[in-house]
Amino acid sequence: MNQQADNGNRETEVSDLKIGVIGAGVMGSGIAQSLATAGFETVGYDVSPEAVEKAADLVRTGRYGFDRAVSRKKLSQQDADAALDRLSFTTDFAKAAHADLVIECVPEDLALKIRVFRDLDAAAPKDTILASNTSGFSIAAIASATDRPEKVVGWHWASPPPVMRFAEIVRGPLTGDDAIETVKTVAADCGKNPIVVKDTAMAWGFVANRVYGAMLREASRVVDEGIASHAEVNDLMVDCFNWPVGPFAMVKGASEGWK
Ligand SMILES: NC(=O)c1ccc[n+]([C@@H]2O[C@H](COP(=O)([O-])OP(=O)(O)OC[C@H]3O[C@@H](n4cnc5c(N)ncnc54)[C@H](O)[C@@H]3O)[C@@H](O)[C@H]2O)c1
Repeated sequence: MNQQADNGNRETEVSDLKIGVIGAGVMGSGIAQSLATAGFETVGYDVSPEAVEKAADLVRTGRYGFDRAVSRKKLSQQDADAALDRLSFTTDFAKAAHADLVIECVPEDLALKIRVFRDLDAAAPKDTILASNTSGFSIAAIASATDRPEKVVGWHWASPPPVMRFAEIVRGPLTGDDAIETVKTVAADCGKNPIVVKDTAMAWGFVANRVYGAMLREASRVVDEGIASHAEVNDLMVDCFNWPVGPFAMVKGASEGWK
């Protein structure tokens, strides 16, 4: 923390950055929690009041929330309370858009993401960096909805965000070095291991999801051929490769959250 990031014409203490998160579902709530834990003032926004309420509850009492982190001695009560003070959830878009960095976490629907980026471009200050947690849409396509493609970057997180070190940072064809460096620094402050990869319009997915997708297609073929059940494939892959969960359990956790 407290590293310097050069945001164009102003020097900003990275830990002083205010961060907005758009979409407070499975990923957005956990991402907001991770950012607040790392010391960033964080505002999570969702169109749905129910989602806002659920997110506020999840970050406290969820399986990867603050209460459990404290009881497992991963975090002190004092640090958890300070993180909660830095974190809020709202249905007011402007409160999340008025930030130094905004991370979009709405469902994986390109037309929706383009609408959100158009709205963010209109509402956010001109220096604000806009990141997308898309699992695989081209950053160039998303950036084209804005007049600031040099400030649009992919930041693909893994689930559950407070736990996983994964940070796939995607450089679009017009993404500037400042945006990449700021996002890398914020990711490192969150305890992640940022790795910058290239955008592509040729395939859905960057590195992790393309490789994972190939494995999942083969796992499904194994089940279709009657060689083993879903549960058996899960257990065999966990036992063989020491994965935390098998391929089908991963799909369920990613879509429904980790109970
Ligand atoms: N679930 C995973 O494991 C995972 C992992 C990495 C990346 N992702 C990506 O993260 C993104 C979000 O996925 P998720 O699993 O959190 O989805 P989710 O359905 O759990 O959450 C999406 C949230 O966005 C809200 N939303 C919908 N339209 C909105 C709008 N216009 N403005 C603000 N909020 C809006 C919904 O109410 C919902 O709460 C997707 O792009 C997904 O591909 C998901």
